[in-house]
Amino acid sequence: MTSQTVGTRVHVIDHPLVQHKLTLMRKRETSSSAFRRLASEISGLLAYEVTRHHPLTFVRINTPLKSMSAPLLDGKKLVVISIMRAGTAIADGIIDAIPSARMGHIGLYRDRKTQMTVEYYFKAPRNMSDRTALVVDPMLATGHSAEAAITRVKGTNPRELVFICLIAAPEGVDYLHTYHPDVPIYCAAVDEGLDPSGYIVPGFGDAGDRIFGTK
Ligand code: URA
Repeated sequence: MTSQTVGTRVHVIDHPLVQHKLTLMRKRETSSSAFRRLASEISGLLAYEVTRHHPLTFVRINTPLKSMSAPLLDGKKLVVISIMRAGTAIADGIIDAIPSARMGHIGLYRDRKTQMTVEYYFKAPRNMSDRTALVVDPMLATGHSAEAAITRVKGTNPRELVFICLIAAPEGVDYLHTYHPDVPIYCAAVDEGLDPSGYIVPGFGDAGDRIFGTK
């Protein structure tokens, strides 16, 4: 797996398999079921890069031929926190790659009057100080939801925190870095920017609608 580092904290995973699947997702005619499957597959591939430096513990096992000390990843030390609702597809792909990882959820919406991000749901495992939190959302657009989610998760004192998305806008990267310069961002692409409605261009449109077929 290869990755390109843009700035100090943005890791763009430029592996051909990731880029190929991202192109299929971008296509307007890609069906909702294919889009959902591709989102999950890419996320599993991103998980490889994100966990590259995750600690291993050695356990004694017996192969059919010999006893040996062999490395295991302690998946329980990872918590995938999905920003609802579109983060679900990303979380599913990571959990497929690391089935023993724990899961958390955060629900946020933007109040139209105040323009403030409001939390309506949060649930994370206990003992977060023992764990690495992977906060996931398909898009890093304005960065407001990601910033609010990360602030909330930081309140649980995770050992480490990483943000994972498929496509980031430069505006979202800058915004997130302003508030959380310590949080690395892993993504498959950094696109041109945001349109006046806050969609990432060229992007792939509304991720939630495309994942769940709600449009
Ligand atoms: N959210 C989406 O689903 N798509 C975008 O392009 C931006 C935010």
